Amino acid sequence: MPEVMIKLENVQKEFRLRGNIIRALADVNIEINAGEFVIIMGPTGCGKTTMLNVMSGLDLPDDGSIVLDGEKIDRASEERLSNIRRRKIGFVFQDFNLIENLTAIENIEAVLWPGVLRSKEIEDRAINALRKVDLLDRKDNLPKELSGGEKQRTAIARAIIHKPRVLFADEPTGNLDAAAAQQIMELLKSLNKEMGTTMCIVTHDKGLVKYGTRLVEMEHGRVVKS
Ligand SMILES: Nc1ncnc2c1ncn2[C@@H]1O[C@H](COP(=O)(O)OP(=O)(O)O)[C@@H](O)[C@H]1O
Ligand SMILES: [Mg+2]
Repeated sequence: MPEVMIKLENVQKEFRLRGNIIRALADVNIEINAGEFVIIMGPTGCGKTTMLNVMSGLDLPDDGSIVLDGEKIDRASEERLSNIRRRKIGFVFQDFNLIENLTAIENIEAVLWPGVLRSKEIEDRAINALRKVDLLDRKDNLPKELSGGEKQRTAIARAIIHKPRVLFADEPTGNLDAAAAQQIMELLKSLNKEMGTTMCIVTHDKGLVKYGTRLVEMEHGRVVKS
């Protein structure tokens, strides 16, 4: 039996905006196993970001059940959610979210400060993460001194430093040219294989579907194919 990593049952999420009710997630059911590389696609506004957010405990659903790596998170407190995110989850975003006045290595180290680790151990871990994304030779560059693809590799190194069980990426190649996009997907694929990290990746680009082990398609707040 494969190990279930994420399970959503009858998940609902609405937004209210100036008197309108938007059903962002309308009864979503999906199960993702450990080690899968899931590609999530669908038209703008169909609920992809909302689904990632509730799967990862960044947002709570209005109704339904969500279990992540054995922990029920659909009603969890913010304190518990942030603890689960810190231990189990990595995030990568379209616009990289790097701190502009920190170098690549400092951006990665920053997620481990302040904490229990000594500075030497923090540096060792950051170097190790940079090596995994093949960016050690750029470690002292500021974000503005990195290409788009290099920025995203820095962000991925930051996201994997605590060896997350699941990596969520919301259109990670949306700001990259085609060649850099393929490189980022190759990198995610190799991390998926080497570290066994479950991958949930949102993209618009049909050319990237081949990197996944599974394609999930959404429309109007529903999963229509999985
Ligand atoms: N904070 C919010 N307030 C109001 N409406 C929102 C909010 N977030 C998302 N929505 C709406 O919910 C729907 C799903 O959004 P989203 O999950 O961001 O879609 P996608 O990522 O597939 O483009 C859209 O109609 C969007 O406008
Ligand atoms: Mg989105």
